[in-house]
Amino acid sequence: MNAMPPIPIARPWMGEAEAEAARRVLASGWTTQGPEVAAFEEEFAAFTGAPYACAVSSCTAALHLALLGVGVRAGDEVVTVSHSFIATANAIRYCGATPVFVDIDPATCNIDASLVEAAIGRKTRAILAVHQLGLPCDLAALSAIAARHALPLVEDAACAAGSEIEWRGSWQRIGRPHGVVACFSFHPRKLLSTGDGGMLTTADGGLDRQFRRLRQHGMSASDLARHRSTTVLVESYTALGFNYRLTDIQAAIGREQLKRLPEAVARRRALARTYAALLAEVPGLVLPDEPPGTKSNFQSYRVRLPEGCGQRAVMQRMLDAGVSTKTGVMCAHREPVYAGERWACAPDRNACGCGAGGCRRLARSEAAQDGCLLLPLFHEMTEDDQQRVTDALRAACALEAAPA
Ligand SMILES: Cc1ncc(COP(=O)(O)O)c(C=O)c1O
Repeated sequence: MNAMPPIPIARPWMGEAEAEAARRVLASGWTTQGPEVAAFEEEFAAFTGAPYACAVSSCTAALHLALLGVGVRAGDEVVTVSHSFIATANAIRYCGATPVFVDIDPATCNIDASLVEAAIGRKTRAILAVHQLGLPCDLAALSAIAARHALPLVEDAACAAGSEIEWRGSWQRIGRPHGVVACFSFHPRKLLSTGDGGMLTTADGGLDRQFRRLRQHGMSASDLARHRSTTVLVESYTALGFNYRLTDIQAAIGREQLKRLPEAVARRRALARTYAALLAEVPGLVLPDEPPGTKSNFQSYRVRLPEGCGQRAVMQRMLDAGVSTKTGVMCAHREPVYAGERWACAPDRNACGCGAGGCRRLARSEAAQDGCLLLPLFHEMTEDDQQRVTDALRAACALEAAPA
């Protein structure tokens, strides 16, 4: 038995300011999609440099609205990765469309842009690119491909609040956006959390208006507009919408979290540097890499285990030492809900007959899921915590790599 307190994989960084913000909203009498949401949107737009930001209930909701917004409909295809949280692929299926999965670049675990062009076919309606674990994907290459094929590029930036890329000579935050729309998550494992929540950023005012209508049942006028109107304003329902509202309680918390975000990102980067120094000598362990022109927010710290080290065995040894870990990012195509005909792998659209995993074309995605490990990473981690994590990992790798 380990006498030390267990080290969790993540822990939100919240305090009295967030509690006070929530209290303020409860006392105000306006608890959903009101003035706090409007203020949060304005502040998030200013943070990312986006002309428009629209708050919703989750990143999944944001992805759904983004794909509908760029015109994805039943029978279409969307090129994306399987190696992502399942919400990425699910959002495509919500539109009645089919995800066409391409493999990842093993160095970054982001979409391999060199495979995208071959995945584009007659039915392709959009490219959905993920900034996995906060590391920006190759937006320059992807936006060039999208432009060549007149396709919209949607960014799944669920994990990437505060991440940066070098874009035409200057550093910019993810979400400006660099595609047509970027979608963020405020789930507790993200650097900015509202409990649950999401945001769409875009430079297209028409799309922003559409997102606002669809997030609230397709209603023609927002509650805020009706509240502020000095003449009677009766709404109509102009499209089949959803209830994807963010509450004012969440938005007020989000505004406080946004103030903390630059410090949160700086802290994650410092923790990542410490991990890199502590793990530099572990034989065969591959540490995360930031390609030139990208700065991750280190939403997670992922390592690739040495060849021959069993992932589950290492995780168990670390858990026995009081350290929580997670496997590499999942692959949607390996899940039962994706068994059958609901996805395709590029470029031959399932020609390898790999419905139930073991996909030759997504071999690097599967290897990353099976061979990587996410280590604990959170704002209030101490030097001792990081030492314990790295000691446990080093010991587990040594034991698992040793010949039986
Ligand atoms: C890449 C990616 N996309 C989408 C989502 C879904 O976000 P949410 O839980 O806010 O719906 C997540 C959540 O972790 C994610 O990591």
